Parts: sequence; structure tokens; C-alpha cells
Amino acid sequence: MSLQKVTANKIIEKKKNGEKIVTLTSYDYAFAKIVDQCGIDLILVGDSLSMVVLGYNNTLAVTMDEMIHHTKAVSRAVDNAMIVGDMPFLSYKIDINEAVKNAGRFIQEGGAEAVKVEGGTEIIPIIEAMIKADIQVMGHIGLTPQAIYQIGGFLVQGKTVETAKNLIIAAQNLQNAGVFSIVLESIPWQIAKIITQSLDIPTIGIGAGPYCDGQILVIHDMLGIFTDFKPKFLKYFENLGDRMQNAIKKYKWEVEEEKYPDLIHSYEFPSDELEEIKKWATSQSFKEINSYKMKQ
Ligand code: KIV
Repeated sequence: MSLQKVTANKIIEKKKNGEKIVTLTSYDYAFAKIVDQCGIDLILVGDSLSMVVLGYNNTLAVTMDEMIHHTKAVSRAVDNAMIVGDMPFLSYKIDINEAVKNAGRFIQEGGAEAVKVEGGTEIIPIIEAMIKADIQVMGHIGLTPQAIYQIGGFLVQGKTVETAKNLIIAAQNLQNAGVFSIVLESIPWQIAKIITQSLDIPTIGIGAGPYCDGQILVIHDMLGIFTDFKPKFLKYFENLGDRMQNAIKKYKWEVEEEKYPDLIHSYEFPSDELEEIKKWATSQSFKEINSYKMKQ
């Protein structure tokens, strides 16, 4: 482990010190490297991979093997940030032993330091079994996208007294079970504030207002690369999709107009031997050159 690696204890300490925790998702080497170089505390290899990278219209399609494949790529890039692997749909709710084994794959094969699971009080025994196996766990309540068919869509949660109470209780139970932090997704900011104030461990908000201990966004969303839909909470910090299109169009134009590649972007043959190779080439017939090539 790198000496400077952010740990779960450091994440918790940040809450105690009143410092905001800044987190983002990543799914590959190049993005993860940039994110890490920016001093982001925690990188989640989210199952949002299913939508923003693999093109499915929800997070249910992505498999354990795909998640591990991408977690490996991220962990090869990261020196500082804590890496959390997001356990995909059906990988942890069917059988406790299978859940612990799958969580262990994120650590052993993927190089993550923790896993994230979606759900409240009903998954406490699963979380406890993972922690017993020395696997650090991050919780995730509110809008849990793996349950969209049960919920009825990507809808804001905790908008009634009853459902808000359930979220507050679930957060307490998750903390008691030993999670090191909890993602609060798409819930009213007032409920997120109550939960945040009631916990010793940090809350990481996405669509949960300004009073969480930290924030997370899907990197393809906040950079304006994935624009299929835009929830209310999402802010585009850059319009990289447009900038990428400009660059790609410019490349297309330069190749078509024979402006790229120019000689600055080409390799040079040694000038003292150039005449010799030119003379040789002109002395050969096309047929002879082909037969010469084939002999090689
Ligand atoms: O999959 C994901 O990216 C997530 C975050 C949005 C919290 O779960």
C-alpha cells in the first residue's frame, strides 16, 4: 500500500475535522489517473459503468466480471485516492457467502480497498459478514438505482415522514453495522442534513444537498460527456462532449485536407543514406520489391 493512500480512517477523520470529502467515479486507467492527480479523496468504480461506459439504460446489466475488469484498470492508475468497488446487481443479495466472496474479488483481483452496497436495514447481515471478513464497506441509501423497477424509476426518495424516518433509521443501522461512510442519493436536503448530523461516519451526497460531509458525481456526467439525461442535482463543470466533438471534427478536416500529419509529426530517415535508398528503390521493379518482401 502506498504510504500516501487515503484510508477509511482518513475519510472519517475528515468529517471530525470539518473538512469536505471530495469523491468521483472512474472506470478506466486514463480517467482515474487524472482524477487521482487532482487530489480527489475517493474513487468509486461505480456500477454507473453500465450506463455511461457500456451504454445500457440502467445499472442492472453490468456483471461482476465487468466490474472487476474496470476496477483493475482504475487501481493500476491510482496512487493516492481510496478505491471503492461498487457491487453490482445480484452479486450480494442472494447468498451471504457469495456476497463475501464477490466483495473479496474487488479487493483481491480488482485492487480496491473497499466495496459499496445499495440498501438499508434489510442488508445489515450481509454488511456484517463482509466486515467480519475484513472487507471495508460503504453504504448507499435513498435512491438505489439497482432497485429502480421496485421504486418505479429514478425518483427522489424520503419525501414523506414515514420514508424519511426509514432513511434516518437505516443510516443509524448501517453505522452500527460498521460501514465507514454512506452515500445518500436523491433525497431532500433537509433529511440529508438530519442524517449527516446524526452520524459519526461521513455522508457522501449525490442529489442530497449541501449539508453532506462529502459529495460524489459520475465523472462522465459532470464533464458533460454523458448527456442522455440530466437530473436536477447535476451540474456540468465542463462541456467536454462538445470540446471532444470539436477536436474530432478538426482531426477529420486536417486528414481530409492533407494538413495532418505534417513532417513535424513524421519520422525521419538518416539523410546521409537517403540517396542510396532512393536509387535502390527506383532501380527495382514493383514485382521485384514484392518478391523481395515475400522472401523475408
Ligand atoms: O454507480 C455509481 O456511480 C454510484 C454513485 C452515483 C454513487 O453509485
